[in-house]
Amino acid sequence: MSKIVIENLAIINKKEVGSGYFLLTLGFFSKTGTIKAGQFVHIRLPRSNIYFRRAFSIYDYNPGNKTIDLLFRVLGRGTAALAAMSPGETLDVLGPLGNGFKFPNKNETVLMAAGGIGMPPIYLLARQMVQKGFDPSRIFFFYGGQTKNDLVEISRIRKLKTRLYPATDNGSYGFKGLLTEAISSVINGKEARYRIFACGPEGMLKALDQFGRTEQIPGQLSLEAPMPCGIGVCLGCILPLRAGGYTRVCREGPVYDIGEVLL
Ligand SMILES: Cc1cc2nc3c(=O)[nH]c(=O)nc-3n(C[C@H](O)[C@H](O)[C@H](O)COP(=O)(O)OP(=O)(O)OC[C@H]3O[C@@H](n4cnc5c(N)ncnc54)[C@H](O)[C@@H]3O)c2cc1C
Ligand code: FES
Repeated sequence: MSKIVIENLAIINKKEVGSGYFLLTLGFFSKTGTIKAGQFVHIRLPRSNIYFRRAFSIYDYNPGNKTIDLLFRVLGRGTAALAAMSPGETLDVLGPLGNGFKFPNKNETVLMAAGGIGMPPIYLLARQMVQKGFDPSRIFFFYGGQTKNDLVEISRIRKLKTRLYPATDNGSYGFKGLLTEAISSVINGKEARYRIFACGPEGMLKALDQFGRTEQIPGQLSLEAPMPCGIGVCLGCILPLRAGGYTRVCREGPVYDIGEVLL
């Protein structure tokens, strides 16, 4: 894990990229050179009534101008406070935190499953892989949401030239149905060496964990848990391991092998 630093970062840009979805660019972050896809930052909101920091996956970064991008959906008080902030205001940012994804072998075909606001770390993994020479046609990028409104930043994903499979629960865009159903419909017995990478709602991750174990497809899942401290001290984020014992999602995670955590 890279060295943890706390920095005061300015909001350089804020853009609503879909109804209730915001893209934030923050700078200047001294650790851009060390970021691994799947890592996150822990942000203190400058509101006295919001005590806990909030975790956000690093969506993208630019080592040249030392900025990071975050993508968030307004869900409750924390994200509403973040959405109300303006360029020029600063945030206390701790990170990069967590382990990040392990890169696949170049001869594998990668099944990426990005469920709703779980998309940022999956996008960054695909972006880093393509940049390092992984053939984008071997990346099957499944991006699912409840409706078309939940599939934000599609044009950024398209630029990677992966095979993109959008899916919505109501069929308003792409495949109609669950992301897991979209994956099954595409891969169904056509290829042997797959590897799964996923981030998204609990139900989707549980289904993919089960799918991977049953079909013997290896892979990694990025998990979420409440994170009071973010640095492995408070044990507020622990989850049970399948082999026994517990893991701290903020420290040993948030990325785990399929089958490693009891979901
Ligand atoms: C590793 C990781 C990566 C994430 N990446 C993203 C992302 O890229 N984009 C995104 O939109 N969301 C992301 N999240 C979720 C995000 O951190 C917020 O929890 C979520 O957006 C809830 O929004 P809120 O803070 O507005 O909700 P609130 O309603 O303010 O909080 C939700 C509930 O959780 C409790 N809670 C909130 N924060 C903490 C904490 N730190 N410790 C304990 N309890 C807490 C609150 O008290 C409340 O009960 C990520 C979470 C994790 C763990
Ligand atoms: S959030 Fe405190 S140990 Fe993980």
